[in-house]
Order: sequence, then C-alpha cells, then structure tokens
Amino acid sequence: MFEERIKKMIDDADKLFRAEQKLKSIRVNTLKISREEIYERLRERFEVREMKWYENGFFVDGEISKTVEHYLGYYYIQEASSMLPPLALELDKNDAVLDLCSAPGSKATQMAMIMENHGVIIANDISMARLKALTHNIQKSGALNCIITNYDARNFYRTGLKFDKILLDAPCTTSGKIIKNKKIVENWNYRRVRYMSFLQKKLIKSAYYCLNKNGIVVYSTCSLEPEENEEVIDYAVKNFDFEVEKINFKGIKTRTGIKKWGDNEYEGAEKAIRIWPHDNLTEGFFICRLRKY
Ligand SMILES: C[S@@+](CC[C@H](N)C(=O)[O-])C[C@H]1O[C@@H](n2cnc3c(N)ncnc32)[C@H](O)[C@@H]1O
Repeated sequence: MFEERIKKMIDDADKLFRAEQKLKSIRVNTLKISREEIYERLRERFEVREMKWYENGFFVDGEISKTVEHYLGYYYIQEASSMLPPLALELDKNDAVLDLCSAPGSKATQMAMIMENHGVIIANDISMARLKALTHNIQKSGALNCIITNYDARNFYRTGLKFDKILLDAPCTTSGKIIKNKKIVENWNYRRVRYMSFLQKKLIKSAYYCLNKNGIVVYSTCSLEPEENEEVIDYAVKNFDFEVEKINFKGIKTRTGIKKWGDNEYEGAEKAIRIWPHDNLTEGFFICRLRKY
C-alpha cells in the first residue's frame, strides 16, 4: 500500500525506491570552530564535499562519529535535509524562539549557532529520555541561549508565553527516511499515519496560540504522507489566522506540496516544499512557513 500511494504522488517513484545514501552529513558548529578550520582538519582524513544548499554543511565519506573533533562538539552529525527548517525561519539574533518538539536538539543547536547565542530558545520536548540527549547536545555544542522545558506541546500555549518564531518539527511516521532504512516500507501502517496527523493538528493549533502577531511558524516533518503534511497545513490555514509564505532555498532540488490527494484539495500546498529523497540523496522532508496575521 505504501508503494502504491507513493506512485500516486510522483511519476518517478521507481527512482525513490532504488535511491541509496552513501555519504554522511555534518553541520559545522561555528560556536566552536570556523568552517574553514574544520574543513582543513577533516580533509586530511576523509573525503569532504561541500553542501550546495548550506555553507555550514559538509558531506563526509567515512566513520565520522569517533573523532576528537566530534567529541569536542566542533561538528554535529545531522541529516542534510534536516538543516533546512531552521533556515526557513530566517532567524534574527534577538528573536524569542520556541522549538516545540526539540529532542535530541539537532535544530535547536543549529538555531543557537545561527543566533550566535543571542536571543532565547525554549527547547521543549515531552520525552524525558530524549531530553537527556537534548541536554547533552546543548551542553556539548556550547549553546548558551537555550532553556529546556518538558511540556506536552499540545498544552504549551497554557504557559501564556508568546514567541516571534516557532519551529514545529513534528513527530511523524518518518517515511522520508526510506533512503536509509528500507524496512520503513514493511512497517508502514495507515492507522499510524492517521494518528500522527491527528496529533500534528493539535500541535500546530498550540503553536498558533504561542505566536505573537506577525510571528512565524515553520512546520516540518520527515514524512512523505500528505495526511501528515499538506493536510495539516490545510487545517491550519482554514481554522486559524495563518497565511503560507514562500520559501526560497538555493542549491537543492525541491518540489511543491501535493495539492490534490484523493478527494481532498489542500490549501497552501503550492507554497510548501517537499524534498524527495531521490532528488538530492537526502532524507525526505516537508517544510512549510506560516505567518500569523
Ligand atoms: C522529529 S523529532 C524532533 C527532532 C528535533 N527537532 C531535532 O531536530 O533534533 C519529534 C520529537 O517530538 C517529541 N514529541 C512527540 N510528541 C510530543 C508532544 N506531544 N509534545 C512535545 N514533544 C513531543 C518526541 O519526543 C520527539 O523528540
């Protein structure tokens, strides 16, 4: 059923099922080292390639988790497409940012780095176990502008706190990881897709109530399912004062969101972005930027 659905979404589904990712990707932690210095250090031991869509990203061939530089937090091993949602937020140094589902902190630490440790980031997650990894990663990265909280994000708006920018990197069925893990196809199940979609709508509703007027929420998932992506955006624009804004990424092939799915026609899909795994040999991602008006 998963494969049949994908074939209805794109014409080149066979390429997606065959795609494989050979290189690992890292994000330089400019809070601790410059991109030039880490590049010089790593290229003595590995084949290192620039990432066309992000100056602080590199692709590396080899075992990069057991280096001194990694232990010291000079770089973070992060999926290449997962570096994009924080960029879509267009962060200012002094923003008040909420990362609603933040563990283990790939994007929270990236945002701290982009903000050069200014402003404030509330890094929230529901899972105590995952908060341990988040705490570790925040400390290791040298991020000093993060406050860690442990709320169910569906209720975060009850704190009464308001933010300029919100990252909602939502829990999802992770089908975009198919390029790394073919078992995704075997384990796929539609009830889980529906459950996630239900949860994601609650989360985007909470994000709306946590935003200042004119504030931005970037909604992202690593799922390929329209129910978890375009359907959530459609729900958000039809029920709240949200408008979808265009995102411009350079150096990466993107496609627009899926406008029609079964009997549904989704609002906002044409401005949302899909990164299909086989287009850039990355994990799949869905990214949408919404402004509260
Ligand atoms: C896709 S992961 C987030 C990855 C993270 N943004 C990063 O870049 O490292 C989704 C996260 O949502 C958390 N989560 C699931 N349900 C939640 C809820 N109701 N409230 C807050 N966090 C939740 C999970 O524990 C998980 O850590």
